[in-house]
Amino acid sequence: MCGIVGYIGKRDAAPILMEGLRRLEYRGYDSAGIAVAHMGELRLAKCKGRVRELEKRLPSRFKGAPGIAHTRWATHGEPSDKNAHPHCDATNRIAVIHNGIIENAAALRARLESAGVAFRSETDSEVLAHLIAAMPEHSLDAAVRAALRLVTGTYGLAVLDAARPEAIVAARNGSPVVLGIGEREMFVASDPAALVRHTRSVVYLDDGEVALVRADGFETATLDGGPTAKTPSTINFTSEAFDKGEYAHFMRKEIAEQPEAVGRTLSGRLEPRFQTTHLGGIELAAHELLDIRRVKILGCGSAYIAGCIGAHLIEQLARLPAHAEPASEFRYRNPVIERDTLYLAVSQSGETFDTLAAVQEVKRKGGRVLGIVNVVGSTIARECGRGIYLHAGPEIAVVSTKTFTCTAVALALLAIQLGRIRDLSTADGGRLLAGLAALPEQIDGIVAREPEIARLAEQLVACEHAYFVGRSAGYAVAMEGALKLKEVSYLHAEAYSAAELKHGPLALISPETPTVVVIPRDDLYQKNISTIAEIRARRGPVVAVTHAGEMPAPVDAMFDVPASEPEFDPILLNIPLQLLAYHVALKKGCDIDKPRNLAKSVTVE
Ligand code: G6P
Repeated sequence: MCGIVGYIGKRDAAPILMEGLRRLEYRGYDSAGIAVAHMGELRLAKCKGRVRELEKRLPSRFKGAPGIAHTRWATHGEPSDKNAHPHCDATNRIAVIHNGIIENAAALRARLESAGVAFRSETDSEVLAHLIAAMPEHSLDAAVRAALRLVTGTYGLAVLDAARPEAIVAARNGSPVVLGIGEREMFVASDPAALVRHTRSVVYLDDGEVALVRADGFETATLDGGPTAKTPSTINFTSEAFDKGEYAHFMRKEIAEQPEAVGRTLSGRLEPRFQTTHLGGIELAAHELLDIRRVKILGCGSAYIAGCIGAHLIEQLARLPAHAEPASEFRYRNPVIERDTLYLAVSQSGETFDTLAAVQEVKRKGGRVLGIVNVVGSTIARECGRGIYLHAGPEIAVVSTKTFTCTAVALALLAIQLGRIRDLSTADGGRLLAGLAALPEQIDGIVAREPEIARLAEQLVACEHAYFVGRSAGYAVAMEGALKLKEVSYLHAEAYSAAELKHGPLALISPETPTVVVIPRDDLYQKNISTIAEIRARRGPVVAVTHAGEMPAPVDAMFDVPASEPEFDPILLNIPLQLLAYHVALKKGCDIDKPRNLAKSVTVE
């Protein structure tokens, strides 16, 4: 969602900040802005729309440093020029960029207005600029700390004072802030993507920390001013990971990266000696794993759906009741937390607000929760303290592809480990390990058949509606297939459990509404064949995604995936659906990497 970039050093800030904003575009936003300090004065430009609009509006001589810049995703106040960040105090000296939500903004605003402050926007963030300006403290960091002591809510923020250009100040509470350490220059960002071009040495702020950032270094403190100690860490990926390279879209690049990404998720976690898996990061001893009676998986969007595949695997392989639920629902229904349930929070970004809130609810009630997260050091990863990192590499496209697959693989690893200390035999363990190890090559083989899938996409591109159906684990694949198509191509796609078709949706089957039927090689194969017959009897076109071999029922189009261990069918069956969504969107000319109204990580409620 919102993005932050800051720079302090000898160079002109604007080119660095604009490049940083472009790198944050993938997160989703609706307006952008920049402020730099120049000869004691603040220079400011901001507007609704894309970063390229902002670029057009920048005066040709937009010189100065330090500087801060922002991409906004509207929460309080519509997307507009005036609501875009940075926000300034009345004297246009202090500029603030803010991610998160100030919960007591209305009260603070009323207080400032009664003291004569005139507001220029409808945002909650503007109160921060006026509040900081009103503080009597003479150093900027002390003023920011004093102001933040009056604030309740979440923030990642950066503050610039044109009259005191020797430092910028950053602070974090619930919304990520990372400092980048350069050669006599420093960077601030909400996401390492914005600074990997310049440095790989970074420091992540913790909640409640405020950083004073100078060109030659930084100091951190709590809101009360007590110094905190930080150790820099190294970002372990290069800036190429954030470039499209030879691909037209990040989504397509990330689909192609899946074999290596899955390889990294598996790396070091297979234990062929005992035909099991080993997940060191979960920090649970065998006897603790044995005490687990139930597994509950929480996540949002594709993370939730990957959780559905995982729940199915855990139930199958470990014979433990397992269930996935949208984190947003879970957190608000006063959930019953059980001592012998293992809670899993699934999140690519590790920043999704609802998932974080669900983790906090579990912890508050004494439950045990592990994170299944891609971004190392992210909020959910830290809040959980232990779990499984996906190691999928950065995912830039708003829609999730490689991290969906890697999440399902991570949950498969856990299912095997839980299974092998229960009733899963060594023979089955060995079979499943071999199945997992074969996945990267099989995925590669599917991606190589892209032209076939592009032809399939022609069946869908002219339609207004499409159904995706499946049963059991195949139903989760149908859900993800429909979600992906909806997200990137704006085609109305709905997923149903195949058996539910005749309880309603069948009324809408017609020659204009194709159905994608997901058919794993499981016990329900014959039932899925009957579903095809039901649809075709209503003259509905059928696209079957299944395995090679004769289809005992006629279909209009088919794509087959290689045979894997049947437990992993859902993982492979999903890959062609990713490419299907991509090609429908491509043919429709959609903004594939940045679908309208969507954000990569939803850090607000
Ligand atoms: C947003 C994204 C989805 C993603 C979901 C959860 O809705 O658009 O692609 O699946 O958030 O994100 P997370 O980072 O928690 O996996």
